[in-house]
Amino acid sequence: MIKYYKSTEKRKSINSTPKQEKSPSQGKDVEGLYLGDFYEESKQITPGTVDLLTVDPPYGVLKTVEWDTPLDWELTEEVFADLLTPMGQAIIFCNARLRDKIKITFGSLLEIRHELVWLKSCALPVSQYSPIPNAEFMLVIKKKGVRPSELVFNPNETLQPGDPYRKKNINREISIRQETKPEVDVNETGARFIKQVISAPSKPNMLKAERSNHPTQKPLLLMRELIRVYSNPGQLILSPFAGSGTDLIAADMEGRRCIGYELNEAYYKEAVARIAQYHSQGDFFRLDTSSHGLDE
Ligand SMILES: C[S@@+](CC[C@H](N)C(=O)[O-])C[C@H]1O[C@@H](n2cnc3c(N)ncnc32)[C@H](O)[C@@H]1O
Repeated sequence: MIKYYKSTEKRKSINSTPKQEKSPSQGKDVEGLYLGDFYEESKQITPGTVDLLTVDPPYGVLKTVEWDTPLDWELTEEVFADLLTPMGQAIIFCNARLRDKIKITFGSLLEIRHELVWLKSCALPVSQYSPIPNAEFMLVIKKKGVRPSELVFNPNETLQPGDPYRKKNINREISIRQETKPEVDVNETGARFIKQVISAPSKPNMLKAERSNHPTQKPLLLMRELIRVYSNPGQLILSPFAGSGTDLIAADMEGRRCIGYELNEAYYKEAVARIAQYHSQGDFFRLDTSSHGLDE
C-alpha cells in the first residue's frame, strides 16, 4: 500500500509518540509519496539505501510554468550519489539538450552506463525547421568505477509482446564476437531481451483511464519495464520528481518499495488520487501488457 504525506515534517508530527520518533530512514516508514522539495525532504533517507532512482526531471523548456524550472545538475549528482547504494543505478529521462548537459556535468561521482530511447507513439512538430521529436532519451547511470557486470540487469524481464519459439541457426558463426551460436535457439517463455529503443505510448495514445492531468506524464508500461529490468523485487525505488505518481504505481505493481517527492501541490493531489484509484481498482492498471500501443 503506497502511503502519502503532506511533507516529512508533517509525517513526523503525525507519528509523534516516542516509539515512532526514530529517524524515518531507519525503517520502512520513510516509504510513500511526499509533498515537498526532493532536495530538502530526501535528507530524511539514510544515505546509501536507494537501489534505483527513476528520474523524470523538469527539462527546463516550458518558460511559463514554475514547475519546469531547470535543476542544479552539479548538486543533483552529489545528492543522487549519496542516496544510491554502491551498486545503485539511476534512469534519467531527458531531451537531447538536457542529455548533453548531464553528460558534461556528471563524471566525478556518477557515470553513464548506457543510453535508451523511448520511441513515442505520437508527437507534434515543434518547428518547421526541425524533425518531429518523437523520441526521448533515458540515461542509465551508475556509480563511477563500478563494473556493469556487478549491476542489476534483468534483460528478459520486458513486457513487450512475444511468442515462444524454436529456431534452427543456419549461420552459426558470429564473427564480430568470435562466438558460435548453438544449433537451435529455444525461447520457452516468449520473453524478449530489452532493446535500446523501447516503444511506448505517449500521452495522447494512453488509455483514457491512464491519463492524468500532468502534461508530461510517462507511460506506466514503460516505467514498469524499466523497473523490472534495472531492479529486483523488494528493492527500494526513489522517484524524486514524481509528478502524477506513475513511478510509485509502477514500483508497487512490480513488488518494489517506493518513495516519491512532488513539489507542486496540484500534481501531488493528482498523484494521491491516482494512487487511491490504483489501490481500489488495481486490476484495471494491470491491463494491456500485450502491446506497447505502437503499430509495429
Ligand atoms: C517531468 S514531471 C514528472 C512527471 C511524472 N513522471 C509523471 O508521470 O507524472 C517533473 C515534476 O517534478 C516536479 N518538481 C520540480 N522540481 C521539484 C523538486 N525540487 N522536488 C520535487 N518535485 C519537483 C514538478 O512539479 C513536476 O511535476
